[in-house]
This record gives sequence, C-alpha cells and structure tokens, in this order.
Amino acid sequence: MICAPSFLTADFSQLETEIVSLKKAKWLHFDVMDGIFVPNLTYGEEMLDRVKAFSNQFFDCHLMIANPLERYRDFIDAGADMITFHYEAAKEKSANLIAKIKGRGCLSGMSIKPATKADLLDPFLKDLDLVLVMSVEPGKGGQEFMPEALDKIRYYADQRSKNNYHFLIEVDGGINDKTAAMAKTSGADIVVAGSYIINQKDREKAIEVLENV
Ligand code: DX5
Ligand code: ZN
Repeated sequence: MICAPSFLTADFSQLETEIVSLKKAKWLHFDVMDGIFVPNLTYGEEMLDRVKAFSNQFFDCHLMIANPLERYRDFIDAGADMITFHYEAAKEKSANLIAKIKGRGCLSGMSIKPATKADLLDPFLKDLDLVLVMSVEPGKGGQEFMPEALDKIRYYADQRSKNNYHFLIEVDGGINDKTAAMAKTSGADIVVAGSYIINQKDREKAIEVLENV
C-alpha cells in the first residue's frame, strides 16, 4: 500500500521539521482548500514552493477548490506531480481539464464527495491516472471514516479490471490501521492519512504500519 501523509493538522510554524518527520513516505498529500468549495481555507500553490525546498517526495495535490480550471497551471508550475480535482467543481468540463493537466506533463486525478454517486466518473475513467474516493466530507482532518466509501472503492476496482483501465485508487479521510486494511481489501492502492500519522509520537512507525496493512 502507498501511504500519502496529509500534513493538514501539522504545526505550520515548524513546517520543515513536520515535513521531514514524514520523509519515509514516498508521497506527500497537499490539501488545498479555498473556503468556497469547502468551508475551510488552507493554502495555495505557494505551499508547494515552500515544501519542495526540503522534500523530494511525490507531490499529490488534492484541490478542494471551486475553480480548478483557472488554477491547475499554478500547481503544476509549483511542482505538483499529481493534480486531483473534484468532479463537483468541474462537472461537464472534467474531460477538458484532465486533458489540459496531462498536456502539461502532470498526472491527473478526480475525486468525489461522499454524497456523489460513483458512476458519475465513468466517462472519465479511461483517461484518469487516479480516482480519489473521499471517506469523509472534505474540509477538515480528524473525522470518522465513512464505511460506504468501501463500496465505491470496490466499484472502481471492478470498473478498472473489467475495462483494463490504468488509474490508481486512493482513499482519503479517517484512515488508520483498521480502515486502511479494509480499503486495501476493497481494492485501494493508496491511503491518505493525516491525524493517524500526525498524532503519533513515532510517525515513521505509523507510516510503516499503513504501508504494510
Ligand atoms: C479532508 C482532506 C483529507 C484529510 C485527512 O478534506 O482531504 O486529506 O486531511 O485527514 P484525516 O486522515 O485526519 O482524516
Ligand atoms: Zn485530501
């Protein structure tokens, strides 16, 4: 299992120390929130510029923003390796946005909120590099895992094997050792974990546990 730590609940006044404490993970998950698509406001592409000074991890950017078509370039230029936008923010413009992201040499993912039906992504699956299943309502860390996310993971794993698609399945929200194991059994390849890792004294151990579920 790939583990992508989310540093949303880290101490931003000690950013370098916090990011370095997560260096065991190959991926690093950026939670970009604009205060419009979700109530919270976090950071923009400038955070990628700050973090890349002390991290050479895979930058997995989760854009919880209302205008991904206007802003995707900024994140690619700031060093994103994967840009995941929300279906709810792009809808019928999603295919166009995937093409634009990939056209600039960046991998493209799509995410859906818990209340959004899984099959709305069907038209895009053939072109996606990643599907991000939200197992909490996007907007903050430390929430409970929503088990209905497992049905969606199974749905996408089915679609992928039936059609020989290549996208990876990532799950995000309320991930710990138990929910990560359930996600893996359902077909997930990557788990995003924030509080489970950040709240532990031994963060490397927490990452290792999730990588080996
Ligand atoms: C929520 C974010 C998640 C969150 C995960 O909107 O997309 O990445 O930070 O935090 P935990 O693991 O604490 O649920
Ligand atoms: Zn996220």
